[in-house]
Amino acid sequence: MKITFYGQNTLAITIGETNIIVDPFITGNELAKDKVDIMSLKADYILLTHAHQDHILDAAAIAKNTNAVIVSNYEIAMHYQAKGFEVHPMNHGGNWQFDFGNVKYVNAVHTSTFPDGSNGGQPGGFVIEGEHKNIYIAGDTALTMDMKLIPLRTKLDLAILPIGDNFTMGIDDAITASDFVECDKVLGVHYDTFGYIEIDHTEAKRKFYDANKDLMLLEIGASIEL
Ligand code: NI
Ligand code: MN
Repeated sequence: MKITFYGQNTLAITIGETNIIVDPFITGNELAKDKVDIMSLKADYILLTHAHQDHILDAAAIAKNTNAVIVSNYEIAMHYQAKGFEVHPMNHGGNWQFDFGNVKYVNAVHTSTFPDGSNGGQPGGFVIEGEHKNIYIAGDTALTMDMKLIPLRTKLDLAILPIGDNFTMGIDDAITASDFVECDKVLGVHYDTFGYIEIDHTEAKRKFYDANKDLMLLEIGASIEL
């Protein structure tokens, strides 16, 4: 499994021959827009955690270019189906065995209104079990006790957690989230994109290190292999 970070909560995940884009927000991100050409992104599936602009902005353009299937909660899936896109609706607690692996849509504590004010259902995250590696994409969320449910079903190899504070968990709560999901290897996302969520990278990494955990912060366009 290869995971590439494209800023905010945007990820490209390759599992075997399958390409997955998560929460595409590139053309609106000052930190990413000149570094990534959305028309060059390959996608068989686009996973959307919730309907906020900083998670869906480029979803329609990428789906149009790639014919990717949009996977999200029921309301978001219906929003895109009405625009003619192929979708796979899910809802909280549900699993589906895709060709690349199992996906579960899990709880997040946040909101999920589309930029135009229409209903984006309830926000979520994804647990992906694929190619003998398991990851948790928390999406935008507060620290929540529901995270303790995840390791009852899945032994995680990586937790992808928001760390920018203000709109989501900050560093200290992300460290506790890492305890709750029983995964000490964390990829930090949802930081530095706007003034409200700028973080001190050195301080963030030191806090994780002091908790005997590993916080990875990737440059935009950089990848890790699991
Ligand atoms: Ni959000
Ligand atoms: Mn967000």
